[in-house]
Amino acid sequence: MSIESTTIRWEQDGTGVVTLVLDDPDQSVNTMNAAFIDSLDAVTARLAAQRDRVRGVIVASAKKSFFAGGDLHDLISVTPETAGASYEAGMRVKRALRVMETLGRPVVAAINGAALGGGYEIALACHHRIALDAPGTEVGCPEVTLGLLPGGGGVTRTVRMFGVTEALRKVLLEGTRYGPARALEAGLVDEVVSDPDELLDRARAFIDAHPESAQPWDARGHRIPGGTPSSPEFAAQLPALPALLRKKTGGAPYPAPRNILAAAVETAQVDVDTAFEIEARYLTELVTGQITKNMIQGFFFDLQAVNSGARRPQDVPVRKVTKVAVLGAGMMGAGIAYSCARAGIDVVLKDVSVEAALKGKGYSETLCGKAVARGRTTREKADALLARITPTADTGDLSGCDAVIEAVFEDTALKHRVFQEIQHVVARDALLCSNTSTLPITVLAKGVERPRDFVGLHFFSPVDKMPLVEIVKGEKTGEEALARAFDLVRQIRKTPVVVNDSRGFFTSRVIGRFIDEGVAMVGEGVEPASVEQAAAQAGYPAKVLALMDELTLTLPRRIREENRRAVEADGGAWQPHPADAVVDRMIDEFGRPGRSGGAGFYDYDEQGRRAGLWPGLREHFTAPAKQPADLTELKERMLFVEALDAVRCLEEGVLESVADANVGSLLGIGFPPWTGGVLQYVNGYDGGLPGFVARARELATRYGDRFTPPELLLGKAERGETFTDA
Ligand code: NAI
Repeated sequence: MSIESTTIRWEQDGTGVVTLVLDDPDQSVNTMNAAFIDSLDAVTARLAAQRDRVRGVIVASAKKSFFAGGDLHDLISVTPETAGASYEAGMRVKRALRVMETLGRPVVAAINGAALGGGYEIALACHHRIALDAPGTEVGCPEVTLGLLPGGGGVTRTVRMFGVTEALRKVLLEGTRYGPARALEAGLVDEVVSDPDELLDRARAFIDAHPESAQPWDARGHRIPGGTPSSPEFAAQLPALPALLRKKTGGAPYPAPRNILAAAVETAQVDVDTAFEIEARYLTELVTGQITKNMIQGFFFDLQAVNSGARRPQDVPVRKVTKVAVLGAGMMGAGIAYSCARAGIDVVLKDVSVEAALKGKGYSETLCGKAVARGRTTREKADALLARITPTADTGDLSGCDAVIEAVFEDTALKHRVFQEIQHVVARDALLCSNTSTLPITVLAKGVERPRDFVGLHFFSPVDKMPLVEIVKGEKTGEEALARAFDLVRQIRKTPVVVNDSRGFFTSRVIGRFIDEGVAMVGEGVEPASVEQAAAQAGYPAKVLALMDELTLTLPRRIREENRRAVEADGGAWQPHPADAVVDRMIDEFGRPGRSGGAGFYDYDEQGRRAGLWPGLREHFTAPAKQPADLTELKERMLFVEALDAVRCLEEGVLESVADANVGSLLGIGFPPWTGGVLQYVNGYDGGLPGFVARARELATRYGDRFTPPELLLGKAERGETFTDA
């Protein structure tokens, strides 16, 4: 058996067309493992040796996806000592693909499914790309979202295809995944076919039409759209590039966009082979750094663990929901109805009046209209989605629903009443869910006859965009309900994290610490602009005082009062937070309760648009002779206060898994992506857990007990452990 037959099959027809079939016998997907690299070397050497008998080449896959890309287990474990070997492996792949590309014969990629990252880079080394219009087909270079750079020729070749600026915008800096239609429009693929059989037919047709090499750029690779680096057109693009980078990173410490930008500009100035070396060096720098390891951990391994059901009770069979009752057609109910209908579930959307229910359905109509206008869906598919939503005010219409998601006003008595009304109308074993954001699930479950089937499903706003759902287990929630809730969240293509009932669950509790910290800084006399700058530079998507204004200052005050009463009722002593006094003064003394009240930490214009920070903040809070703020310390306070509270959630059993903590913080509450999540931030901190503990102690001395490291953290630091689910 020849070596290439291990993962790449060589199939040659009587007309001289060679099809290289990617088909790893040991895995369900093709990845860039050692066997693949050996096979690629072997088949490309054979192509070169038999060039005279080859008329054209098709690269195809026998798997469901085309090619899955590099092996992230290998990448996350690269150290400065092993980086040399990893660099060399990457260069071997590129040299082999280059042999195929410069063979002087047309080479076509027949993309039958996902070709992302390394998969798309293989397709880029072909002269023509044909994609199958199938649900799983996506192309692009999402490396940046894992802190990586497309080091398999992706930077070099996209720059030569699109020009520097366009390659950065379209492919490299955003990491956009393109479906077939958009990929065709954007030029990432050249043809789209709808029938799998057509894929190879069209590939052969391309070869027939191009008897000689179809290589799109000259061997030295200097023909770059938008001008070569020494041309005036190219020079004109350069000043815009730093702004592109700033837009992407917002001043947060992301190394990947910076390296991608540098690689794009530098590789454009040299021949292809030198460009490959430059690209590889920038990639090596990334994979040996902590931030890339953080991002691979949080956005790949933890996300995969969460979505694959590591926390789902295993012995409950998967059951699909066919008809869901959504109670309350307000902001959240309308979004939940849309997400369910989009996933093919029939939705009965109930509110107090048909008008209110119709208004809720109107939200889906608007979203569908936009999707059609942007070419993201067809009118027929949009109409089918809308036909699945039945707006009503009649409880009788809920008959036969096998799941209920309640999203009425945040009021325990009302929620109890609403469940009373419907529990005998829906299916006898229907799953009962509440989207409450603050009320204990255990208390809400007291209002139903089947508390074992009752569970919290905490969605995030806007529901159609936010990928996370926090599943909240009450004291009586059964394993079957938990599994069914998990399956429902996956059915609507969202990511479920599982937490135990507690005030604010996990996400709202932890983001509350971040907001309190920012507000406390104002109370200490720190320049409000510096507080906002610290949040942006730490990598948070929202500035902290602006976020507080959006939430409305009265909301945390109400929650604080409820918590205080609960703590005191249990005989505990309530610990006030330094933010409380600032919030109280803003509401009571200055009449500035936040955006919905027309004024908060910011001023707002008549349309409710945010203007500048309120100048009165400086007058009433900022200490006149204060030293300029230490931005590093402000940033660390925000990150630490959230990370420490996540450790407490784990210690108290609110969280049961590290992956849930990381994924929940990244997808739900905007914890900065470069950290890999709240607990990965602790793992990856300079000096590891002991370094984190030492810094937390310093902050505790200066700012109080909220920075005191919990026992769980101290124990792990002493034992040389990290936070992991292993
Ligand atoms: P909303 O005020 O926009 O909508 C509530 C809807 O419930 C209204 O349309 C109202 O007419 C309807 N309703 C009231 N009584 C009803 C009844 N007896 N039967 C049927 N419908 C009834 O409120 P929103 O923002 O949609 O919140 C709903 C729930 O979701 C609340 O529990 C809230 O805490 C929770 N939540 C809100 C989030 C947010 O960002 N707004 C995020 C996560 C959860």
